[in-house]
Amino acid sequence: MSNAATIAETLQDATRRLRVAGVANDLLDAQTLLCFTLGRDRTWLIINYREPIPEGVASRYAELVERRAKGEPLQYITGRQEFFGLDFEVAPDVLIPRPESELMVEEVVRLVTTEVLGKPLIVDVGTGSGCLAVAIAREVPEAQLIAIDISAAALCIAQRNAVRHGVETRIEFLTGDLLTRLRDKATIIVSNPPYIAAEEMAGLQREVRDWEPRIALTDEGDGLGFYRRLLSEAPGHLQPGGILICEVGYQQADRLRALVSSTHWQMPRFLTDLQGYERTMVVRLQTDPSAITVTSE
Ligand SMILES: C[S@@+](CC[C@H](N)C(=O)[O-])C[C@H]1O[C@@H](n2cnc3c(N)ncnc32)[C@H](O)[C@@H]1O
Repeated sequence: MSNAATIAETLQDATRRLRVAGVANDLLDAQTLLCFTLGRDRTWLIINYREPIPEGVASRYAELVERRAKGEPLQYITGRQEFFGLDFEVAPDVLIPRPESELMVEEVVRLVTTEVLGKPLIVDVGTGSGCLAVAIAREVPEAQLIAIDISAAALCIAQRNAVRHGVETRIEFLTGDLLTRLRDKATIIVSNPPYIAAEEMAGLQREVRDWEPRIALTDEGDGLGFYRRLLSEAPGHLQPGGILICEVGYQQADRLRALVSSTHWQMPRFLTDLQGYERTMVVRLQTDPSAITVTSE
């Protein structure tokens, strides 16, 4: 008879370890890591609950649980995150895609289907894992895309994600600072820029603060730096009537409304996320230059 711990006992020990370490979803994370180590799904775990843990798995699992206990995000350990129903490779060089960013993909799809945009050129600025560009390419087959990031390491991952989802021939990847290397005029620019104020960094959850790339999180200023730049630089890179869609930080919407009024844009619309926060700004270039209002924040 085997002396090895059962799957149930192994899971209980790991859950306890994660709880002591202050991991919020202790049981769920312990299960996910065990499924990952075993290469099995949750149903298999439940059916085999009383079985001994297979040889060689326990020590590997213990290592992964220890990494999670030290605060490493689950997604960097498994190397995977789902976004818009697609499986994305992630690593510490890229931000882990968040569900609220799916709003931007939905809005692009809505605009392309409700307005006659022909074969749109859609530019994703700060593409990271490529989640927005890849999901849009999958949802809008007539679109061409350009994905830009200042991080060459992030772009490598974005390119692999494009290949994984069969859209690599429709996305051009550019390393560069915001729109500076963009030569074509876009129909739509989407961006989830770094928007956390430098002074808020210390108060972030440790999984975010200590593990996700700082360059993906903060502008090292008041959190609005990238919006100021996008609102002033994007008009030169958009077709007439072009649209800028940005994710915005918690409680930044009013400050953005004030910023937009000082530029060459129509009044922005904000889309709310499932928690009721204004999360996505949609703003269109002015078509009537006499309607431009010039004010400052
Ligand atoms: C908040 S992450 C967004 C990643 C991805 N689009 C998403 O929604 O999950 C911001 C991204 O902007 C990139 N970035 C930061 N500064 C940049 C700059 N000056 N020009 C272009 N990209 C930049 C970061 O490397 C990072 O990948």
